[in-house]
Amino acid sequence: MNYAEFYRRSIEDREAFWAEQARLIDWKQAPRTICDNSKPPFTRWFAGGTTNLCHNAVDRHLKDRPDQPALIYVSTETGIERTYSFAQLHGEVLRAAAALKSLGVKKGDCVLIYMPMIAEAAFAMLACARIGAIHSVVFGGFASVSLASRIEDAKPKLIVSADAGSRGGKVTAYKPLLDEAIRLSKHKPQSVLLVDRGLAPMELGGGRDHDWTALTEQHAGMQVDCEWLDATDISYTIYTSGTTGQPKGVQRDVGGYAVALAASMKHIFLGEPGETYFSTSDIGWVVGHSYIVYGPLLAGMATIMYEGLPIRPDAGVWWSLVEKYKVTAMFSAPTAVRVLKKQDPAFLKKYDLSSLKALFLAGEPLDEPTARWISEGLGVPIIDNYWQTESGWPILTIANGVEKKPSRFGSPGVPMYGYDVKLVHESTGEELTGVNEKGVVVIEGPTPPGFMQTVWGDDERYVRTYWETVPGRMVYSTFDWGIRDKDGYYFILGRTDDVINVAGHRLGTREIEESISSHPNVAEVAVVGVADALKGQVAMAFVVARDSSTLPDAASRLKLEGDIMKLVDGQLGAVARPSRVHFVNLLPKTRSGKLLRRAIQAVAEGRDPGDLTTIEDPAALQQIRDLIVSK
Ligand code: PRX
Repeated sequence: MNYAEFYRRSIEDREAFWAEQARLIDWKQAPRTICDNSKPPFTRWFAGGTTNLCHNAVDRHLKDRPDQPALIYVSTETGIERTYSFAQLHGEVLRAAAALKSLGVKKGDCVLIYMPMIAEAAFAMLACARIGAIHSVVFGGFASVSLASRIEDAKPKLIVSADAGSRGGKVTAYKPLLDEAIRLSKHKPQSVLLVDRGLAPMELGGGRDHDWTALTEQHAGMQVDCEWLDATDISYTIYTSGTTGQPKGVQRDVGGYAVALAASMKHIFLGEPGETYFSTSDIGWVVGHSYIVYGPLLAGMATIMYEGLPIRPDAGVWWSLVEKYKVTAMFSAPTAVRVLKKQDPAFLKKYDLSSLKALFLAGEPLDEPTARWISEGLGVPIIDNYWQTESGWPILTIANGVEKKPSRFGSPGVPMYGYDVKLVHESTGEELTGVNEKGVVVIEGPTPPGFMQTVWGDDERYVRTYWETVPGRMVYSTFDWGIRDKDGYYFILGRTDDVINVAGHRLGTREIEESISSHPNVAEVAVVGVADALKGQVAMAFVVARDSSTLPDAASRLKLEGDIMKLVDGQLGAVARPSRVHFVNLLPKTRSGKLLRRAIQAVAEGRDPGDLTTIEDPAALQQIRDLIVSK
């Protein structure tokens, strides 16, 4: 089929197009309305329909493929490697669902999942989906303060966690971080369910804490039916960073999400039932939700869940899994490829990769040398795809399942069906239609199925944050700069806000600033993202000390820098740790006291900061320039 026509129908004949896509999943009751956009920007998809994500991901496949692999769990951290067939996965999910119910979890309750990459995390997510509980998975790399703010906002009845995570052989105990987070949070969960992996000592607190293995074994063999949910009911929330320090709970529905993922597996990810999908992401991120857990299973594919580094025991480990499990589609991030690029390229040729149809990369800009290196090394198409936690599935890429189109290095591609993507002028809101004109990437409503419904518990914030930033128009802002070439391919040029992207992890600089500010010797701080050859960006902090007499020499500055890094590690997690903390006498501000972040970032990257007519004291920027040059 012709993609241009496919796309046109998705926008101009929206109802018929999505009614067709809706047939890719099972419904208990068929939807009454396909798209209800009577209260923009709140689009409701498939209202009147009832369905269940767990049914579609698991139960639905029991008839045709009960013994085919569903979840392939591989940990190079613990040496555990285990395949669960659809029937076995069904059994595990049933026990987990029964265990959740025994702890009083009901439809509409929130369950927060703070877990490493273990199979139980997927069981817990699917169990929630089964009984209509709303899961909120928090990335296991976050520490107590990040976790506390999410617990406080999500208000979970139950938290599912584990004794520890492991990365590169280094064990991080989760239970003490979780206990501290619960102590810090105003909201307290009724119960905590803990998987004991035997990696770190763990004491179960009387009354509140329960052991996963004991409780699920108690419920082995129990039947727990799928709860038939309204298509517009909430499936989950996932927190993501924005301009303010307070992360937002991105809220998603049930029916729209199921249809969007099923459609994307077919049209974008080339997935066929019985094949194997391998996404190297983490369940704590949106890619893990959509393309480790739900997407592949909805498509009847086996999904590989991998715990470990891409280079341990050696840089061939992922390719060995591709060979062993005949992976047909793989999904990773440019950072991971850049890590592999530093290793012996012979690893790319060591295994039989003939099963692999494509490698999909997303999460951060894919630079051309990296794309070229991996494409030549693997000999398979590299498909860049651009999207966000908010969208749930690709906004820009190429839909090779519809029509084969060439990728263009440096560009994620063209707007996907359902997304009416535009470029607008930042300050006038005017639509930019010219070739290579730079503007803000926006989406005209109604947003497609799978897109966020709202910000959890705060409709007003959803509207204000995303839909009221472009003057004179109600459009969804992605907060990304972009340009479009003469053939309609988009190029993404970085964020317009204070979000940074470190190794594909989306972080808010304000959250990092708040953490650093809690150090007693910090008077003021600015955190900016600085370009980095390996991680894409790193966080760099500029601090004005409260008492500069404590920093007479390099050794004392180094000591405070180390203390601040440890503080961020302990509060937010190592992912948010700044790569450097520089000390300055004052921060560059406008005469009205606004921090000149873009200027700081430009100077820290060795670029020209541009117009500085509003700066209060140019010496502040000079000081940063001197610091950067002297490093
Ligand atoms: O700035 C864009 C960048 O990552 C942001 C979204 O991050 P997150 O919510 O974690 O979702 C990741 C889902 C894949 C975007 O606003 N980004 C994501 N993909 C790309 C990208 N930048 C350039 N190219 C991409 N392919």
